[in-house]
Amino acid sequence: MKYILNGIGVLFTLLLVFMVLFVGVVTAANKPKGDNEQVLSGKDGITKKAMIIYQPGFTKFTTRIARELAAGINAGGYGVTINHPGKHLSTDLSGYELVIFGSPTYAGQLTKALTNYLTQVCPQLVKATGESPRIVLFATGGLAQTEEFERLDGMLAGLNVVKKVKFSSKEQSAYDLGLELAQK
Ligand SMILES: Cc1cc2nc3c(=O)[nH]c(=O)nc-3n(C[C@H](O)[C@H](O)[C@H](O)COP(=O)(O)O)c2cc1C
Repeated sequence: MKYILNGIGVLFTLLLVFMVLFVGVVTAANKPKGDNEQVLSGKDGITKKAMIIYQPGFTKFTTRIARELAAGINAGGYGVTINHPGKHLSTDLSGYELVIFGSPTYAGQLTKALTNYLTQVCPQLVKATGESPRIVLFATGGLAQTEEFERLDGMLAGLNVVKKVKFSSKEQSAYDLGLELAQK
């Protein structure tokens, strides 16, 4: 009986530690990471501009994907600005032909830093006069399922969303997708 009770105690403690770690990781991941603007200039005489706004995670998978996309789009002739979402960033994205939003997935959701920024920026993009930028959404995660995108359907309604893509294997590269997006 004593062994059974000890076993239950150990299991309960492990479960508690796991839950605390899980909540800690998700909470930290959701926080804005501040201004980190990087600019890749376009080719001379080409004025097409792309913006990549992504929330970095812990193991740099999302950061690598964002940088590969930027390199591909830049090689395709665009000037590319990369930054993290947050209050430091303008919500007026009307000057860009291509806008990409990205985030790791935690507990089936994209990070709050990104979705809070989208809450501000999407209504402005819908209202903007003139041609609406092409929008691409990317997620990184360990699972192939893409429930995280469905949660944003309402927010993205009326926008020119051309692609939603999830990178679920660290073997994947996003450079070719960047090139492809630049050539359209
Ligand atoms: C606490 C936790 C929850 C996670 N939840 C999901 C999930 O619901 N779906 C998924 O595809 N990946 C999930 N993952 C995997 C992360 O999305 C993956 O590790 C992330 O893309 C890594 O990106 P990063 O290197 O930029 O941190 C989770 C990872 C952790 C640590």
